[in-house]
Amino acid sequence: MIENQFVHPRSSATIRLIQADCLEGMKAMEDQSVSVVVTSPPYNLGIQYNSYDDTVPRAEYLDWIDRWSRAVARILSHSGSLFLNVGASPRDPWIAMDVARRIGHHLTLQNTLHWIKSISIDAEYLRSRNPGSDTLSLGHYKPINSHRFVNDCHEYIFHFTATGDVPLDRKAAGVPFQDKSNVHRWKHASDDLRCRGNTLFIPYPTITSRKLDRPHPATFPEKLVRHCLVLHGLDRVRLVVDPFVGLGTTAVVCVDLGLNCSCFELDPVYMNEAVHRVADRLKAVTHSRTLL
Ligand SMILES: C[S@@+](CC[C@H](N)C(=O)[O-])C[C@H]1O[C@@H](n2cnc3c(N)ncnc32)[C@H](O)[C@@H]1O
Repeated sequence: MIENQFVHPRSSATIRLIQADCLEGMKAMEDQSVSVVVTSPPYNLGIQYNSYDDTVPRAEYLDWIDRWSRAVARILSHSGSLFLNVGASPRDPWIAMDVARRIGHHLTLQNTLHWIKSISIDAEYLRSRNPGSDTLSLGHYKPINSHRFVNDCHEYIFHFTATGDVPLDRKAAGVPFQDKSNVHRWKHASDDLRCRGNTLFIPYPTITSRKLDRPHPATFPEKLVRHCLVLHGLDRVRLVVDPFVGLGTTAVVCVDLGLNCSCFELDPVYMNEAVHRVADRLKAVTHSRTLL
């Protein structure tokens, strides 16, 4: 186990990046010590990782999901949240559900959110608001060359908790009302915020070089992590964990928010990149004028 530890210059939060098998790493953590887990495990869809083999027999893979999710359930506090991002593929559409069902042995599925990576809004709808509009296509997706499958533009974010009854900060993660008459009509709407619902349009940031800008085949965007943490309720976050941190996305968002986090990654190349990203973001936070 190789550990890199950073202290946040403003919040004094501790950011720990540990190169280790997450099962080994989580063994050292105390029961119910974690407020939020935001993570995305390998999906067993044959993705070409640097060292991890993503082509394990299905039963073996699901047993492994069972083992690490049991460990997460042990360290997650009674009022904590696990936000689990999983995708599927047109050829293997059940994998995300199979993973969620296994995790359901240890935790309760409280919400199912949909991460929309790309969407097209028809001109007909837009013209009702803005005459002359054309169909609007937003975001990025990997095109599928197929006569039977449509392009896959979405993944799941399963929200698990111990009891299924953990209160969320829906408004902090919310959006203003479209119809402002609601703001005056309803007392609960006087702050002009409503729950965003379970669809999140979060496109990947545009990059020019994958090798330089995103040297990993399966990252999630920072905004996804931020949304999950805000929805859980930032004032209730004591410690964030990501057992599969890849390039360090979860850790970088914790730096921005001044939160304690402990993250694991098996692969030394990805971990090295994560360490650099966190160090760079800490430098940016140190020199930024914005208060946390
Ligand atoms: C889907 S990726 C996560 C990417 C991450 N969310 C990001 O934004 O960079 C899954 C990661 O899990 C790592 N991994 C696989 N098995 C692991 C294990 N037992 N313990 C820790 N990390 C593991 C892989 O090397 C891979 O980087």
